[in-house]
Amino acid sequence: MDNSNQWWKDGVIYQIYPCSFADSNGDGVGDLQGIITHLDYLEELGVDAIWLSPVYPSPMVDFGYDVSDYCGIDPLFGSLDDFDILIREAHSRKIRVIMDLVLNHSSDQHPWFLESRSSSDNPYSDWYIWRDGKPGGKRPNNWSSWFGGWAWEYDEGRGQYYYHMFGKLQPELNWRNPQLREAMMEIFRFWMDRCVDGFRLDVFNQYFKDARFRDNPQKLGLRKFDRQTHIYDTDQPEMKGAVEEIRQVTDAYPERYVVGESFLVGPEGAAKYMGDGKLHAAFNFELLNCPWDAGRMQAALQRWENALGEDAWPTLVLNNHDNKRSSSRYRTGENDDRNKAAAVLLLTARGTPYLYYGEEIGMRNIHVPYSQIQDPPGKRYFPLFPTRDACRSPMQWDNSPQSGFSSSAPWMTVHPDFPYRNAAAQRDDPESLYNVYRKLIALRKEHKALQEGLYMPLTFEPKTLMAYLRQTKDEMILVAINFGRKPVRLFLGSDLAGKTWNLLLSTRREKLEQPQGNAIRLLGNEALVVDLD
Ligand code: GLC
Repeated sequence: MDNSNQWWKDGVIYQIYPCSFADSNGDGVGDLQGIITHLDYLEELGVDAIWLSPVYPSPMVDFGYDVSDYCGIDPLFGSLDDFDILIREAHSRKIRVIMDLVLNHSSDQHPWFLESRSSSDNPYSDWYIWRDGKPGGKRPNNWSSWFGGWAWEYDEGRGQYYYHMFGKLQPELNWRNPQLREAMMEIFRFWMDRCVDGFRLDVFNQYFKDARFRDNPQKLGLRKFDRQTHIYDTDQPEMKGAVEEIRQVTDAYPERYVVGESFLVGPEGAAKYMGDGKLHAAFNFELLNCPWDAGRMQAALQRWENALGEDAWPTLVLNNHDNKRSSSRYRTGENDDRNKAAAVLLLTARGTPYLYYGEEIGMRNIHVPYSQIQDPPGKRYFPLFPTRDACRSPMQWDNSPQSGFSSSAPWMTVHPDFPYRNAAAQRDDPESLYNVYRKLIALRKEHKALQEGLYMPLTFEPKTLMAYLRQTKDEMILVAINFGRKPVRLFLGSDLAGKTWNLLLSTRREKLEQPQGNAIRLLGNEALVVDLD
């Protein structure tokens, strides 16, 4: 198969949280037809692919990350026919479609689990992780759940415990069972046969657990989950073989892409699964977890670069459906200067940028009172940790009721700033955050150096100033970002300062003077992208 077109290296990927993107049938929940209606918007923004958070049939206890049928579409979102239309319409605009595959666990309502729990000698009995308790009615071991409490749930019928790293209605599949594994590979083929271009693998490095089910060592921490070192319940060596098999299966189709959500590991942990014969990419959330600090961001990029082998390509992420939105993390008030600077970082550093719906218009987290929390860990850990609902509010399309998202009350509150912070208003405003995203995406397409060029950090003021070059043999592009509120001077060697500076983009001004001596002055929170000739 011809896999030479590595669109995912050059491309920009946009994550859609389907419940919250656009509601076409007025039930308050986003759907596939809603997405189809807004493909023109995405084409204009310039994204190369959309990643859909799960749209499979599901009881929705974890908003679709609890799947009850891997090869269907939940009626809430539409039908398989709608899905085929989405693929066709997206492809006609040169937008690829990436599905979210949640293969570590299913819903407890999946027919496989219903069978599995019905007896210990049916064909599916070993498709989930079942263990006997320890003498005295104790749990099989000390493993804890990320959603809170223990990770073992006792099932009266089987007289055994089943394992769940997430909610207790999300039992974990047993990847050591060869039939289960083959069923998983069939799911990949099913969607590729429907012309899906790639997959995002939910918590993929969680597929295997220690074969001997040893206790995790204890440590200090806030939640039960943090009070142990997770060495036996995640990221086991057997994952290597599964990753290789997934790559073989997807390589049998042209130009497919697989990105894994690495769970509980840093850049080095993610990097070991990436490259030739392994996944095309994996997430590293270090940048997302960095405060607004130039040195910390630059160090995070460098650690990612250092961790990656020659054949691995980085991913760049500032937002997703599990984390507080960057515009709220960076405490920008109503001002978007920091968000514009962050956009420059995301879209000019080396790697595949991932955008999360609404990031391009600077949507903020909403306030969710306890009575309105729908996210299970959000409820459990209130008010210790913010609920994930807060970053999943309806897309702000325009200033009409419900922000143009739906004709009726949406499933989650719309941010009260929608009358002035919305896509329609920002499209018309040349100075808006939306237009910075759009220009940056276009610049990446025009300048190979921004897509494929070497990344060369130039370190200046650790807290406030970050600068780097992106370079191919024909082009040298300088990116400089002032993280501080005050103007700052960027000093360069005479080799760089002596070149002609062609401004490609500034987040704060139209024109740039040539450097004075060896220095160029950046305005507060300004980011510059300059072509050096
Ligand atoms: C991933 C998803 C998250 C979900 C969890 C369990 O981390 O991103 O939303 O709750 O997996 O499926």
